[in-house]
Amino acid sequence: MSGWTKVAKLADVAEGAAVAVEAGGQQLALYNLGGGEIRCTSNVCTHAFALLTDGWLEDGVIECPLHAGRFDVRTGKGLCAPIEEDLATHPVKIEGGDILVELP
Ligand code: FES
Repeated sequence: MSGWTKVAKLADVAEGAAVAVEAGGQQLALYNLGGGEIRCTSNVCTHAFALLTDGWLEDGVIECPLHAGRFDVRTGKGLCAPIEEDLATHPVKIEGGDILVELP
């Protein structure tokens, strides 16, 4: 599956929340950063196997629950050890009350 895919309803991703969804066989994380800003990254930490939505979202940064690695959810950039590889990000658009993500 590629192109724009509906992954959730906007109402399902509360402000300040990180929510796990699956689309196109991929595990994705949606983040509501407030002010109508929704971001999407891969939900799987690049360090080992952990779901980032089990971690903590603050100021646009998600902290992995396993070893406290942190990523900027807007750029996917790894911000500290033990992260060595950035996170994949996906474009997001809102249509009506739906969140759509562009998958490769
Ligand atoms: S698994 Fe995420 S920091 Fe280690």
